[in-house]
Amino acid sequence: MANQSFTKNVLKKTTIGIIIGVILVVVAQQTHFPQIFQIMFFIYAMLGTFVFILLDAPPMKRLEGFKALGALLVFYLLLSGMYIAGASILPQFDPTIEAGKIEKVLKRRKAASEQGKADELIARTKALDERAKAITQQLSSLGAGAKVEVVDTPSAGGAASGDIIALGKEQWELQECYNCHKLFGSGGKKRGPILDNIGNLMTPEQLREKLLYPKKWKAEGFDKQYKKGKMPDKYRDLMFEEEIVALIAFLSTLKDTSVDTPKPIKMY
Ligand code: HEC
Repeated sequence: MANQSFTKNVLKKTTIGIIIGVILVVVAQQTHFPQIFQIMFFIYAMLGTFVFILLDAPPMKRLEGFKALGALLVFYLLLSGMYIAGASILPQFDPTIEAGKIEKVLKRRKAASEQGKADELIARTKALDERAKAITQQLSSLGAGAKVEVVDTPSAGGAASGDIIALGKEQWELQECYNCHKLFGSGGKKRGPILDNIGNLMTPEQLREKLLYPKKWKAEGFDKQYKKGKMPDKYRDLMFEEEIVALIAFLSTLKDTSVDTPKPIKMY
């Protein structure tokens, strides 16, 4: 009789446990937990169910003396075995893998900035060289004593600034601004404003403020996100000065008036 109701109870509780497990998995899926977490949640639900069922188990016969000691030992070994097996079957957090990932990101950033610096220097040198040539030419054609008019060759700065904007666009990718901001029709998961027209709305100085101290500006209509501090407050620690300059130069070129970029509001 007692046994029969125990079996019934096991069935009932197992069913409840599975339902809770499935609900957990669905919620975890909806909130974008990695698959391994979804599996873990299910396992946790099953473990909980097991304990829940144990509460109903018929009491064991009382053990005494050496028998009790032996039972304790067996129980201890069983639990240890379960923990060790669990730990070796389930994937564990591995600091060396995480360190490796960070290393990779840093290497790419460093390489990019070094390459950018080199490109910029080469372009600047070229521009200066051309300008020097132009001046020498003018000098020789005018003869000594004549007033030399220095004309800005169009290439002065031109090539260099082109590179800076390409570098800035690369920063847009590397810093993953696209995770929250839509630009050129891609990226952003509705979390941040679309930025195609930001170059018309903010000066480079204001863009620098927004990037380094996001709370100084609020995009109109994004009150909730502003209050929650969705725009990360980390770029001043993360980015080199050259990278900041390049990213701002790139953002300043975004002047597509057909796109409704929200108005920036100065907060302090
Ligand atoms: C985690 C999401 C997130 C990331 C990543 C992010 N932002 Fe933002 N950003 C926001 C949100 C949300 C707002 C609107 C609320 C506010 O103004 O603080 C915003 C606002 C802005 C604005 C002001 C827009 C306006 O119309 O006023 C600019 C400019 C901006 N972000 C640039 C960037 C740049 C550049 C990066 C990459 C270095 C970046 N954001 C990364 C979430 C993000």
